[in-house]
Amino acid sequence: MRIAILGAMREEITPFLKKFPNYTQEEVGGNTFYKIAYREHELVLAYSKIGKVHSALSASSMILKFGCEKLIFSGVAGGLNPKLKVGDLIIASKLCQYDVDITAFGHPLGFIPESSVYIYPDSQLNAIAQEVAQQKGIALMEGVIASGDSFVASSEKKKWLIKNFQADAVEMEGASVANVCHLLKVPFCILRSISDSADGEADVSFDEFLEHAAQTSADFVEAMLEKLLPQFT
Ligand code: ADE
Repeated sequence: MRIAILGAMREEITPFLKKFPNYTQEEVGGNTFYKIAYREHELVLAYSKIGKVHSALSASSMILKFGCEKLIFSGVAGGLNPKLKVGDLIIASKLCQYDVDITAFGHPLGFIPESSVYIYPDSQLNAIAQEVAQQKGIALMEGVIASGDSFVASSEKKKWLIKNFQADAVEMEGASVANVCHLLKVPFCILRSISDSADGEADVSFDEFLEHAAQTSADFVEAMLEKLLPQFT
C-alpha cells in the first residue's frame, strides 16, 4: 500500500521526516516528495506550500505521479467551534470551499455546478482516527472544515463561516485536497490540530503553537498508520 501524507507548511512535515529519516526524494512541480519504506509499505510525504492551488497540485502529483492509494492530510487549523481549544484535534466530517461565490447566478455559497458544496472524507479512515483517539484517551471532534485562501483573524469572519457553512474549523487546503481525492477516487482523511482561534489574536497564537500543533497532528497520523497498514499486509 502506498500512502500519501500531505501538509501545507514545512513545519507540518518536519515531524514526519524526524520520525522517518531514511528517505529518498524527488522534485515535481516545485514540491519535494519524500519516499519512505515503511514496513512492507511506502509513504510519500510532502508539504505543498500554503493554499488551495498548491495543495491541489501536490495531492494530484501524489496520486497521479506517485501512485498513492490513500491520502492523509496532517496540519493545523483555526478553531471556530468554541469547544475547540489550541492543541485539540479535529477530523473533517465534510469540507467546503468557503471562498467560492457564484451567488450572482442564484447558486448557494460554496457551490460549483457539477460539484457540491461539501465533499466527504473516507468513513473507514475516519473510523480508524476515532479508534486511535479512543486508544490515546483523547477527544477527537469530527466536524465541518471550511477552506479558503485567507488566514482568518477576525470574530466577524468567524461568525460568517459558522453561520453560512456551520464550520467548526478553518484552514487553507483541506477542501481542495478533498476535491482532488474525491475526483480521483482516492480515500482520504483530513486531520488538523488547532493552532489558534481565528480571532484577533490568531496570528500571535499561530506563531506560538504551530510547531507543537503540527507535532500533535503528526504523532496522531503515525498511530493511524500503525492501525491502518496491518490491514493491507
Ligand atoms: N490555519 C491555522 N489557523 C488558521 C486560520 N486562522 N485561518 C486560516 N488557516 C489557518
